[in-house]
Amino acid sequence: MSTPSLKKGAPLAEGKRETFSSRKLFILSAIGSAVGLGNIWRFPYVAYENGGGAFLIPYLVAILCAGIPLLFLDYAIGHRYRGSAPLAYRRASRKAEVLGWWQVLICFVIAIYYAAIIAWAAMYCWFSITKAWGDDAATFFMEDFLQVAPEAGVSLDIVGGVFGPMLGVWLVAIIIMVAGVNKGISRANGIFMPLLIVMFVILVVQSVFLPGAIDGLNAFFTPNFEALQNPGVWAAAFGHIFFSLSVAFGIMVTYSSYMKRKSDLTGSGYVVAFANSSFELLAGIGVFAALGFMAYNANSAVGDVATSGIGLAFIAFPTIVSAAPFGSVIGVLFFGSLVFAGLTSLISILEVIVAAFQDKLGWNRKSATLVVTVPVAFISMVLFPTTTGLYLLDTMDAFVNQFGILACALVIVIVFGAGLGMLPRLAKHLNRHSSIKLGTGWMVLVGGVGPAALGYMLINEVQTKISESYSGYPVWFNGVFGWGMAGALIVGAVLMSLVPWSKKSKLNDPEFEEHQQKVEAEELPDPVGKEY
Ligand code: PFF
Repeated sequence: MSTPSLKKGAPLAEGKRETFSSRKLFILSAIGSAVGLGNIWRFPYVAYENGGGAFLIPYLVAILCAGIPLLFLDYAIGHRYRGSAPLAYRRASRKAEVLGWWQVLICFVIAIYYAAIIAWAAMYCWFSITKAWGDDAATFFMEDFLQVAPEAGVSLDIVGGVFGPMLGVWLVAIIIMVAGVNKGISRANGIFMPLLIVMFVILVVQSVFLPGAIDGLNAFFTPNFEALQNPGVWAAAFGHIFFSLSVAFGIMVTYSSYMKRKSDLTGSGYVVAFANSSFELLAGIGVFAALGFMAYNANSAVGDVATSGIGLAFIAFPTIVSAAPFGSVIGVLFFGSLVFAGLTSLISILEVIVAAFQDKLGWNRKSATLVVTVPVAFISMVLFPTTTGLYLLDTMDAFVNQFGILACALVIVIVFGAGLGMLPRLAKHLNRHSSIKLGTGWMVLVGGVGPAALGYMLINEVQTKISESYSGYPVWFNGVFGWGMAGALIVGAVLMSLVPWSKKSKLNDPEFEEHQQKVEAEELPDPVGKEY
């Protein structure tokens, strides 16, 4: 399909809004955001628990029917309305601004605890050299390193060994953010992502040669086709892919608003999704090979040692590092990978927050970044390097993912699909700016399959979280930091959307008006009448 209004060399309507200087850098940054802790410590276990090799079927279905279509929705909104989440949604419809602020606040909650995990991983990189945990990695992690209080609560007892590295993580993140989209985000991804890939590939190769690795791989890949009859397995696949591709965080809306007008949206999306899944699969191989070795060493079954998340990274892996030949190398590579994967995801969520304030208040990059990130870092440093930080992190993570991201994604697909009826217009925009064209199928997936899958998962989650106290923590604790926090995000979002846009804000940006005229011209009914 031709794009008549995009004459070569015509001035682009970017204005002062920064753009990624090349499509490659956009793709790299989007992959940097998508490839995070979820790929390394979540995917392998989710796949193993939900049918092993057979999980690939629901996983692929979930990617094609929901992950990629929703990724395209994010791209279309960000690129068409050229703004941070609140601004882009507001330009789409006045009432939708609140959804953008909801995403900004979700990103705020994730950022404050994500930095803590990156800091732990950085310390464990160091600890790997001397295997500082001795022969009891669990006690070392809980008691010596985090000094976790016996009961969930809130204490302001700072743990020095976590505070220092967290300060370091925040300094690095703030420096990258202040430098902006090209000098900061693109450059950081340009350095960290190749490093991550090289380190991770070496780690996987080293792991598959460990004794017992083959048992781990068998456990991971052996298909259990019966699992496919269980709806929970399908829900796990859909739930994982939304998180893994970073859709509905506001990240992809923000990043795609920095893409040049003449871009290839769907082509880039497929590259990002393919790269993200390839990395996950590789992680599955590396992690399960290492777990196979751990089981072999402990003379137990792989199923007895397999776990995910914090337990996998900070308890199982240190145990593997202690026992494996060249264990310290495994440790440095594994924890180094967590740091790089985590940092590139952290800067992407910080960008959602910074861009939102920059647009609403009309501040320059440096001021907006400092005014936003310094308080965020401060809150993070008060809450998480404490003796109760682990409890807070656990509860906030569980609730913000389910009742933040999942719920927000559901509302967005309903609002943009059935509510505003904007899918045909967005499909048209995608097709104007893409190499791979979409058909009506995309609208059916976003407007139909998306809400159905998200709605099903959300209902399931509400039921489990109501029926049992999360992680066995006291009711008041989950009430305040789980349910209360999730509710506060919505109230906060409504309040933020009521704050008037500053005169200097980007709402009435003349550059956008020019862009708008061009895209509106493109949206006129097609003379051929075939494509949207
Ligand atoms: N796609 C990311 C992951 O798999 O870890 C999700 C993510 C989490 C993105 C946290 C950004 C972030 F800060």
